[in-house]
Amino acid sequence: MPPETSTTESFVDNLVAQMTVDEKIGQLHQYFNFNDFDSDLIRQGRAGSVINAAGALGGQGQSASTSAETCNHIQRLAQESRLKIPQLFGRDVIHGYRTVFPINLGQAAAWNPELAEAAAAVAAREASADGIKWTFAPMLDIARDARWGRIAEGAGEDPFLGAAMARAVVRGFQGDDFSNPERLVACAKHYVGYGAAEGGRDYEGAELSEATLRDVYLPPFQAAVQAGVGSLMSGFLDLNGIPATANRRLLTEVLRGEWGFQGLVVSDWGSVQELIAHGIAEDDAQAAAIALHAGVDMDMVSGVYLNTLAGSLRAGRVSREEIDEAARRVLRVKHQAGLFASPFTDTARAAHDILRPEARALARQFARESIVLLKNAHGLLPLDGRYKRVAVVGPLVHAQAELLGTWAPDGRPEEVTPLSEALAQTAPQGLRLTFAEHADRAVLAAASAEVVVLVVGEHPARSGENANVADLGLPPGQAELVQAVAAQGKPVVLVVLAGRPLAIAREAALAGAVLYGWHPGTEGGAALGELLFGLTGDGQPAAPSGHLPVSLPRATGQAPLYYNHKSSGRPLAQPATVSGAFLSRYVDQPSTPLFPFGHGLTYTRFDYAHTQASAERLRDQIEISVEITNKGARAGLAVAQLYVRDLVGSLTRPVRELKGFARLALAPGETQRASFTLTAADLAFTRADGSRGAEPGRFLAWIGEDCLSGRAVEFEI
Ligand code: GLC
Repeated sequence: MPPETSTTESFVDNLVAQMTVDEKIGQLHQYFNFNDFDSDLIRQGRAGSVINAAGALGGQGQSASTSAETCNHIQRLAQESRLKIPQLFGRDVIHGYRTVFPINLGQAAAWNPELAEAAAAVAAREASADGIKWTFAPMLDIARDARWGRIAEGAGEDPFLGAAMARAVVRGFQGDDFSNPERLVACAKHYVGYGAAEGGRDYEGAELSEATLRDVYLPPFQAAVQAGVGSLMSGFLDLNGIPATANRRLLTEVLRGEWGFQGLVVSDWGSVQELIAHGIAEDDAQAAAIALHAGVDMDMVSGVYLNTLAGSLRAGRVSREEIDEAARRVLRVKHQAGLFASPFTDTARAAHDILRPEARALARQFARESIVLLKNAHGLLPLDGRYKRVAVVGPLVHAQAELLGTWAPDGRPEEVTPLSEALAQTAPQGLRLTFAEHADRAVLAAASAEVVVLVVGEHPARSGENANVADLGLPPGQAELVQAVAAQGKPVVLVVLAGRPLAIAREAALAGAVLYGWHPGTEGGAALGELLFGLTGDGQPAAPSGHLPVSLPRATGQAPLYYNHKSSGRPLAQPATVSGAFLSRYVDQPSTPLFPFGHGLTYTRFDYAHTQASAERLRDQIEISVEITNKGARAGLAVAQLYVRDLVGSLTRPVRELKGFARLALAPGETQRASFTLTAADLAFTRADGSRGAEPGRFLAWIGEDCLSGRAVEFEI
């Protein structure tokens, strides 16, 4: 967010002083209607923001984009209002606009915040060229339950990685001054705890302890606020009996009192009026009064602010100060966004700012870095000159719109190269590819090929909002297909395209190699081809470098599954005491993940050696370091991950917590030292009395290539 300047404050003070109550309340209403647009509402200043969308899709599928002309037309209507207060056009620009990048879970798998920042900047340039000024992103919900469809939209299960992505994406959307016409106001959502929805079902409630809330779910939001995010969205969920949209402690005391957030808070879609269904409001008026008092400045599309706040003011249910303060926050963001100075969009921009070649190149790089190589037995990949006949089969072999993933409303399938075409374009000379989508043809094609690439996974309609699953297995029929193709006895490269971690234990066991591609976006097909064949389009070596931002389960029944769990009194990993074999486990299969958080292979291998701590005791800080050597014949990128464990605390502590990561490009035979600095602040946690701090005692630290690897070193505070 740009620095608050006196001009903004004096401007807002002056404007608010001129406004009637109705005009102030108008600023608190976000309007949406793609059927019959109410121009008079805009002319009368009875909407502060417009969600400019051709359809309310909840992230499903694509819709007609808005345009600078449409936004300018609405802006001219706003100029007819008494005070000419400009409209703030909002839209879900979640992981790209017309150039669609990997879904955010895939972006997190790249462990490359700088890339996420660059992608968000491209999305901002493209969306703002069409008149959008406010995006309802980044989505920062920590997700530990793969049944939840919106796990696709966030950065996974870890607060450290989540916070790093939050900072990067806010910077990417906003730059250091979002009055820049090519930047957007970002919106950290869905504050807070939405990802903990019971059963992985959207809109369900969650019960979270204060310590878990503070140490797991809030950190990405605090990071976004520290990065200057201009707005925040309250969630749908009932959190510990208080809906997030009605939670004054979190929306005002924590967000503004503790963190100093100055931006605006918008509700989620209808979530103010939903306080009635939650059972904490009798009617619209009470719902609006509760939300306004909690700290929600703008009501997303339900209309209860617009329709009831004037009456509630007269009835004393809300105060003038609350209405004035909410209106100030909306006007402040509009002024900082430069909308009073230049409310219109240059209509010439769209022609050259959207889908530029460099945007596509960035999308291809991001897709390449997002794909995770989970398994590569006997160096099956890359499919280099060893093979002449490759069958590429499966239900997603011709994926086109599917590559865009959920929450890509402005992506256009016709601007996506179908997967099969992209693979044909990236395959090396002399390699013959045959394609077969349907099961019977797939099995036949596998029988006559040297190696099979089997592309399975989810249609994006199975992920995103209101798309939760009760079974994490592959979609119907695909497990049988994998069995049938594997029965042909040829090496199988399993490619999984999905919006969530799927339970693919059997299928992974049958495959020689497994690539997890998430939904990789506009350039995802070419990116997958470059990794399969080990060569970029311009002939450079290409190798996977993705690492899991979520734990991959063996079975649905493991959900929720996450690495930074507590030990329990009978941990599976600890030698049994008097409890003997009575340990935390399942009797029907291992309780460990199929592939752990942080896991990711490449086409070489790294040796981590000589982990050391710079001292036995952390005074001001301590350095943990390791030597990483590329032991293979190919260059590779190592993602070194620092984990710590607080062995004894006043509360139980996670068995591991990510506290740092670094990307190291290593040539064959090259050794580099990765080192991380830790301070007591990095080891602080929320105690039973709500205070926060690190406690004296022993700690273990590891640096490795996933959450289970590395040699432990000990130090103490
Ligand atoms: C949806 C989503 C939210 C989105 C908003 C506007 O219901 O929960 O993430 O930004 O409504 O589309």
